[in-house]
Amino acid sequence: MIRFFIGIALWFSIQVAYAQNGKYLKLPAAKFSIGDASDWKAAAFNDNQWKDIKVGEVWQSQGYPDYHGYAWYRIHVTIPSSLKQSAVWGDSLRVFLAHVNDADETYLNGTLIGKTGAFPDDQGGYISKWPASRNYCVAAGSPAIKWDAENIIAIKVFDGGGSGGIFMGSPFIDMLEKSDGIAFNLSGIEFLPGSKAEQKLTVSNKFNTAIAGILHYQVIDELKDRVIEDKLIPASLPAYSGKAFTLAFPHREGIKLVYDFKEKASGKVKSFTEIAPYLLTPKEPLEPLINGAGVLGVHAGSPIIYKVPVSGQRPFKYSIQHLPAGISFDTQKGIITGSLPKNGSYTLNIKVSNRFGENRKAFIIKVGDKLALTPPMGWNSWNCWGLSVSDAKVKSSARAMIDKGLTDYGWNYINVDDGWQAAQRLNSGEIIPNEKFPDMKALGGQLHQEGLKFGIYSSPGAKTCGGFLGSFGHEAQDAMTYFNWGVDYLKYDLCSYSDNTAGDTTLYAQQKPYIVMRDELKKHQRDMVYSICQYGIHDVWKWGAEMNGSLWRTTEDITDTWESLYSIGFSQTNNATYAHPGGWNDPDMLIVGMVGWGENLHPTNLTPYEQYTHISLWSLLSAPLLIGCDMSKLDEFTLNLLKNREVIALDQDVSGKQAERLINDNGIQVWLKPLADGSKAVGVFNTGDKYKNYNLQFKQINLTKATVVRDVWKQKDITAAPLKNISFNIPPHGVRLLKIIGR
Ligand code: GAL
Repeated sequence: MIRFFIGIALWFSIQVAYAQNGKYLKLPAAKFSIGDASDWKAAAFNDNQWKDIKVGEVWQSQGYPDYHGYAWYRIHVTIPSSLKQSAVWGDSLRVFLAHVNDADETYLNGTLIGKTGAFPDDQGGYISKWPASRNYCVAAGSPAIKWDAENIIAIKVFDGGGSGGIFMGSPFIDMLEKSDGIAFNLSGIEFLPGSKAEQKLTVSNKFNTAIAGILHYQVIDELKDRVIEDKLIPASLPAYSGKAFTLAFPHREGIKLVYDFKEKASGKVKSFTEIAPYLLTPKEPLEPLINGAGVLGVHAGSPIIYKVPVSGQRPFKYSIQHLPAGISFDTQKGIITGSLPKNGSYTLNIKVSNRFGENRKAFIIKVGDKLALTPPMGWNSWNCWGLSVSDAKVKSSARAMIDKGLTDYGWNYINVDDGWQAAQRLNSGEIIPNEKFPDMKALGGQLHQEGLKFGIYSSPGAKTCGGFLGSFGHEAQDAMTYFNWGVDYLKYDLCSYSDNTAGDTTLYAQQKPYIVMRDELKKHQRDMVYSICQYGIHDVWKWGAEMNGSLWRTTEDITDTWESLYSIGFSQTNNATYAHPGGWNDPDMLIVGMVGWGENLHPTNLTPYEQYTHISLWSLLSAPLLIGCDMSKLDEFTLNLLKNREVIALDQDVSGKQAERLINDNGIQVWLKPLADGSKAVGVFNTGDKYKNYNLQFKQINLTKATVVRDVWKQKDITAAPLKNISFNIPPHGVRLLKIIGR
C-alpha cells in the first residue's frame, strides 16, 4: 500500500516537473471524485483513494459518461519560489483553469480564490458559466500560497447536463506580468472608396497600475509575404485606461495585421494577429430579385406563413398569379398566408417590381408529408446568449433580421434555445416560461405578423442540457403548449434523457424519446419542423427521417474556433446519401458574428478566410443555416457573408443533394455538390496554415471539360471558354467556391 502511494506522489511531481516550461507550470492531472463534501477543499484532506483524471478534458470522456452533478478536482502542485523571483512585477500568482462545465468554486489550500457561475444549492440557484475562462489571481504575499511546498488547488464543479468538468484548454499557474493587463480590441471596420479599409484598434490596460511600452504594428501582404507598413508607437496607459489607434490597410484578400505591445519593465510582449476582413459579395442591385428556394413544403390543412424574400430597393409592388383557394397574399408585406386542404403541388407566379425593374419567379407549395424541402434558415439564440436568452434579446434579433435585410435572402426562423423554461410546471403539469419571457404566445404572434417563424427548444429528459425543465413525462402537454403558442420548430435535445437509457445501447432506446414526441406533434394541425439533437448517436442520419425529423444533429456542439469548425465540417463524409428534401444532416449552427454562449459576447475567433470556408462548406453540405450571433450587432463584413444570394442558393438547391469529398490531398480538399440545373457546386478548400497554389484538373472530379466556371462568392464568371483545369492561390483555411457547367 505505502509503495503505491509513493508511486502516485512521484507520478504527480514528475508530471509537474515535466510540464514546467519557462515561467509557468502546467497542471495536467488531478485527483477526482464525483459528489460533494465540505472537507474536500481542505489542504489536509486525504484524497489518496480518489481516481486520477486529466485536467482539460471533460469527465464524460474519462470514465464518467453519464454523470452530471457535483464533483471535485484536487490538483497537487509544488509552487517553486523561483517562479516569484524570476517575475518582474511580482504582484500576483495566476491560476488558469481554462473553462469549466458549468460552474466552479476554486480553493488554494482551503482559501477561496475564485468562483464562476452558481450552484443549484446557492441562493438564486444554478447559473452555468462554461463559456467564461477562469483566471484566478492570488496576491504573491498571500499566506494561501505555500512556496516551495505542495499546494492543493481544490475545484468544486457542478455540471448541469451535457459535458462536465475542466475543459477547452490546458490549465497552468504563473506570475502575472503587467503585459497580462494589456488587451486589444479591434472594432468598427470601415470599407472606404479606393479599396481601402480602416479599423479602430483600442489598446487597454485592465490593471490597477500604469503600464508603459511600445505598440508595434505591421500590415503584411500574406500572398507576397511582404510587409506593407511597419510602425512603432510609444504608449503609456494609466491604470484602467485605453487608447485608440486607427489602422489603415488595403481592402482585399490576403492582408494580415500583426500588432504587439512590448511592456517596458519586463520586456514581455503581448501580441495579436488578425486577418483583415474583406468583402466578396457584390453590392446589392437596386432592382428587385426574388430570393429563396421557390418551394415550400406544408401539411394539408396546416396554417401557412411565408414571406417572399426579395432584395433590392424598397418600396416594392407585389403581385401573384394562380393563387389557390384558401391562400391569401398581403401585397403590402409580401406575405403568403392561409392553408391548403388537399395534398398536391400548387404553382404560383410571383412578380415584384420597383422603380428600377421587375423580377418574376415561380413558387411551388407542395402539400404532402414533408416540411423543410430545403434546409431551414434562420437564427438560434444559443451560440450568442446561451442560457441568458430573453424575450427582449430574441425580439432585438428578429428586428435586426428584418431591418438588416436578412429576411430578403430567406432567413426566417427565430429559434429560442435553452433557458426559457420556468423552474416549476403549473400544478396541472403545464410548462410555463420563466420571468425572462412574459408571454410566449404573444412572442410567436409578433414574429408571425412579420412573416417570421417561431422555434423553441426542449429535451426528452427531465432536465435540458442547461439544467432547465425538460419534457420527460409531459410530452403530450408540451406538444399541446407549443401548438397553442404557435410554434413552428422544435429542437429536441437528448441531454439528461441518457440517464434513462444508461446501459441500454440498443437503437430502439435511442429512438424511443424521439418517437414519443413525434407522435405527440403529429396530433396537432400545425407544421412544426422537428429538429433531432442527439449529437449523431447510433448514426442518426440513417433513422432521423423515420422520426419525422426534418434535421438531425450529426456532431457534438460547435464553438468558434478553426479546430472545432474543421473537425465538425470536414468530417461530414459518411452521411451525404441520407440528406434529402425534407431531411437534413445538421453539423450545428453558424459561428460567425458576435458569439459567446452567455452574457459576454465576443467577435468570432474565426478568421475571415475561415468564415468564408464555414459558409461555403455548410452550403455545400446542404446544412441548416442557423445564425448564432447577436444580430443587433451585425457588422458589414458578417452581413456581406450572410447575404450572398448565389452562395445561399447552393444550400437551398431544390435537388437537396449533399456535397461529397472527392479529393483529400495534402491539405487540399475538394467537395462537390450536384445541383438541380445539372451544374456542380465545387468547393476547393485549403486546410493548411499557408497560402497554397492548387491546380484542379476537372477530370479528377469526373468532368472532362468545363464551359463555364463561376466564382460564386464574387458572382462572376472566371471564364466562359472551355477549360480542363483551373489553378488558383487559396488562403490558409480558405476556399474557392465555384459553380461549374460542364460535362
Ligand atoms: C446542447 C446542444 C446545444 C444547446 C445546449 C442547450 O446539448 O447541443 O446546441 O442546445 O445543449 O443547453
